[in-house]
Amino acid sequence: MSNPELNDILCAIKQSCIELYQTVSNNNPFYLSSPVNSINSSSDTVLRVDLIANDIFHSILPQCPHIHGIISEEDKEPTYFPANQNAEYFIAFDPIDGSKNIENNITTGSIFCIFKYPYPIYDNDKNNKNRNEVRNEIEINDPYENIISDNQYERGINSGRDIVCAGYCLFGAHCQLLVSTKESTDLFTYNISTGLFELTIGQISLPNINPFYCINQGYSYLWYEESQLTAFIELQMMRGKSLRFVGSMVADVHRAIIKGGNFLYPSNSKHPNGRLRLLYEVYPMSFIFENIGGVAITDDNKPILDVYFPENWHQRSSILLFNNEDYEEFMAL
Ligand code: F6P
Ligand code: MG
Repeated sequence: MSNPELNDILCAIKQSCIELYQTVSNNNPFYLSSPVNSINSSSDTVLRVDLIANDIFHSILPQCPHIHGIISEEDKEPTYFPANQNAEYFIAFDPIDGSKNIENNITTGSIFCIFKYPYPIYDNDKNNKNRNEVRNEIEINDPYENIISDNQYERGINSGRDIVCAGYCLFGAHCQLLVSTKESTDLFTYNISTGLFELTIGQISLPNINPFYCINQGYSYLWYEESQLTAFIELQMMRGKSLRFVGSMVADVHRAIIKGGNFLYPSNSKHPNGRLRLLYEVYPMSFIFENIGGVAITDDNKPILDVYFPENWHQRSSILLFNNEDYEEFMAL
C-alpha cells in the first residue's frame, strides 16, 4: 500500500483480526456463542463473542494515530479519540459477522471500511479553520447541500464514495484477509508459523461465471410479488442453478468473489429497508465488488456507494451484488 497512513491503519486492523482469530480458535464454541442477555442497536441478540470481538478492536485501533473515530455494529454511537483529533480517517466495522454460526463451526469474519473525511472537521492549527468556516465551505461546494443533515455536516462524510479502503477477515479453515482499494484487491492467508499474512491472490477480479445464486430463499413468502428480484430468482431456478446460502454474509460474499455467482439480500415485507446494515456490511462489500469489476445496487437499482451516509448509524439497506453477466440479466427483466 503506497499510502503510509492507510498502511498503519491496516496494521492495526490486521493485529485485531489475528487476536480475534486466536480467541475464536482457542475457545469453546458454545461458550463463545452464549447470549449475554442484551440486544444491540440493530435489535440482534448479543453473543459473548460479539462483545469479545468488539473489545479487541476497541483496544487496538485507538493506538493508531491516524484514526479519528470508529463505530461498530455493537456500539450505540461512534467513539472519537481526542488524542487523534486531526486524524483524517473514520472506520466502520462489523467485529464478527455471522457470529450465530460459531457454535456449528461455520466460517465467520470481521468486515471493515475506512472513510477519509473529505473536509477538515475540527478547529486546528494545521488548517486554521473553525467549524463554521468549514460548514460554509461545504454549503458552497457540496451539490447535495439540501439533503445533508446537521449530523452529516459534523461527520463530513457524504456517502460510500468517501471510502478509501475496505476488506474482511475470514475465520474458517484458514484465516484470510482481503484488502481492497481502488488500485488493487488482494487476498492474504495467515501463516500460523510465521505469524504473517502472506499474499495468496493479488489483483483479484470477479469471475464472470455464475454457477450459483445466493439468497435466503426461505424468506420468499416475504418478497414483493412480481418484482425484478422475484423474476430473477425464477430465472435462476428455471436454469437449474445451485443455491448457496451460508448465513454469514462474509463467507457468502467471499464465495462469489472466488467462485463466481452473486449475493442478494433484498428488502422484504418484514424488513422494508433491507436487513443488513449499510455502514459496516453493505458499504464495504459494495466497495469491494465495484473494485473487482462487479456491480453493487439496492433492490430499487441505486448504486449502493451513492447512498447518502446514514443519519442512523445502524441504518439497514438492501444489497444486490452482481458480476456483469448477472447484472445485465437482472436489468433486462
Ligand atoms: O450480520 C447479519 C447476518 O448474520 C449476515 O451475516 C447474514 O447474511 C444474515 O445475517 C443472515 O440472516 P438470515 O438468516 O436472517 O437471513
Ligand atoms: Mg454482520
